[in-house]
Amino acid sequence: MPDHPSNTNAPNGPAPGADLPAPDGAWDRYWAHGFLTSCRNAFSGNYEGTVRALWEAFFADLEADARIIDIGTGNGAIPLIAAAAGLAAGRRFDIHGIDLAAIDPEATVKTDRHLLEQIRFHPRTPAEATGFEPASVDAITGQYAFEYTNTGRVAEELARIAAPGARLMFVLHHSESVVMETSREELVNARIIFDETRLFPRAADLVRIVGAARSPEDRRRLSSDPKAEQRRHALNAAAERVTKAIDSSPHPQLLQMAMHRVSDAYKALGGENGLAEALEILATGETMITANADRLRDLMQAEVTPGRMETICAELQSAGFRLDPPEHLHHDGGPLMGWVLRGSRA
Ligand SMILES: C[S@@+](CC[C@H](N)C(=O)[O-])C[C@H]1O[C@@H](n2cnc3c(N)ncnc32)[C@H](O)[C@@H]1O
Repeated sequence: MPDHPSNTNAPNGPAPGADLPAPDGAWDRYWAHGFLTSCRNAFSGNYEGTVRALWEAFFADLEADARIIDIGTGNGAIPLIAAAAGLAAGRRFDIHGIDLAAIDPEATVKTDRHLLEQIRFHPRTPAEATGFEPASVDAITGQYAFEYTNTGRVAEELARIAAPGARLMFVLHHSESVVMETSREELVNARIIFDETRLFPRAADLVRIVGAARSPEDRRRLSSDPKAEQRRHALNAAAERVTKAIDSSPHPQLLQMAMHRVSDAYKALGGENGLAEALEILATGETMITANADRLRDLMQAEVTPGRMETICAELQSAGFRLDPPEHLHHDGGPLMGWVLRGSRA
């Protein structure tokens, strides 16, 4: 069993990783939905096609009882592939998934239950300080994970826990990949919602006025109330702008989500507890889209340009890993999905 940091008594000072920044909760909220991967626009369930085949080939080479540690595991997309590959080959790997976020795949993921049982998840565990014993790990993996960390420190930590000859494979964001292009576009759309149109506050302003008009008479009066008219115009202009952006955006999901919330809020106004319910729909919609935008910002910061890839390779090599030259990963011969970096503990 690894000496898990959250279980560690540290009589001589703070626990390892205590100096690292606390997660801001965006990933906690994302994984709580039970999604399997962080690129839901590209994959419907778990990773498929070329990406999955790449991981299957990596796991096929491991010994029957190999200990695998997947960093930045999320809801365990890569450990699930490891467990399935092991099962198919009659092996039972010792699989661990660690993440800085408060993941709980056993509770949130509804599919692949028989595979999930074979994986041990370690929430709130930084890759910079894993808590595993020295030279105790046979394979280190990470998909869209290593580049989110303090790579220099993580390289040192992984070299510490890797057994001699341990294998390593990372898939990393490429600055020109579809994931990055999609995220850039979605962030532009988030700016339209929050900064340019202020869609949610405008909708809430009008909802409050309409919701307070209880009788048919009150409602009739609204059409001649200048304040109500001004708010209605403001919301209409915002909604028109968002609708226009939906029509022209190749990835309009966030915009559509926002518009659905606004129209659901108006529908709710007709009900028993109309005003409170409508405001709640708007507030939760705004929170959900804000969390998405925070996550996308995190993702953009993790992009790996060719220059950053050189730095990452140098860090891993100086920590003690032998590396193959980084390669480009294309999904089923088509879009660029990222970099692939393979190596082993020297
Ligand atoms: C883009 S997601 C990838 C998740 C998963 N590997 C996948 O392919 O779906 C990045 C994950 O890295 C985690 N993460 C970020 N910094 C980390 C760190 N220093 N240590 C461990 N996990 C970290 C985040 O919480 C997030 O769950």
